[in-house]
Amino acid sequence: MTLRRMRAEDLQAVVAIDQASFSLPWPARSFQFELNENPNSRLWVAEVTDAAGQPAIAGLLVLWKILDEGHIATVAVSEAYRRLGVGRKLLAAALLSAAQEGVTRSFLEVRASNTAAQTLYQRFGYIVEGVRRRYYKDNQEDALQMSLYRLDPAALQRLLEE
Ligand SMILES: CC(C)(COP(=O)(O)OP(=O)(O)OC[C@H]1O[C@@H](n2cnc3c(N)ncnc32)[C@H](O)[C@@H]1OP(=O)(O)O)[C@@H](O)C(=O)NCCC(=O)NCCS
Repeated sequence: MTLRRMRAEDLQAVVAIDQASFSLPWPARSFQFELNENPNSRLWVAEVTDAAGQPAIAGLLVLWKILDEGHIATVAVSEAYRRLGVGRKLLAAALLSAAQEGVTRSFLEVRASNTAAQTLYQRFGYIVEGVRRRYYKDNQEDALQMSLYRLDPAALQRLLEE
């Protein structure tokens, strides 16, 4: 698996994974904006070799660098590649790189029902700090606000290599 920054030619695959993963997916133009126009956006993909021996995008992550904070804007893994460590490696690579740019802490929102993602974040040390009531407009679901207050490069390196 290769973890690398997203490129324009990845957009179609990225949008397809996002649409399959979320009830409120980002439109393609949002990814285009993040890629081409938002200087604070760090976009990552996990590239794998598929059954036919071709390179394929297995997952994506967008981190917004806001001064010393890294906000996880979105992360998704193609269903066929879940529970294989793709999400963990994407998050570890993105946070490690952000730490090298001076990011010291990280924040995110996650649906209250999304225990898979919450478990992943807890493994990194994120803690639940608050609730945004009825944050998600499709079903009025609450968002949990999760925070990671100290990015530890050694721990992130272990999560990347595990
Ligand atoms: C959340 C998501 C990104 C996780 O990606 P993934 O590549 O499957 O996760 P990983 O294989 O790296 O899992 C790492 C750890 O997270 C936890 N985890 C991941 N999926 C889990 C699940 N379905 N149930 C419980 N724990 C889970 C486990 O601790 C797992 O480690 P383990 O497999 O050794 O037990 C993926 O399920 C997804 O794309 N979901 C839909 C989109 C989404 O909800 N994104 C998050 C928005 S906040």
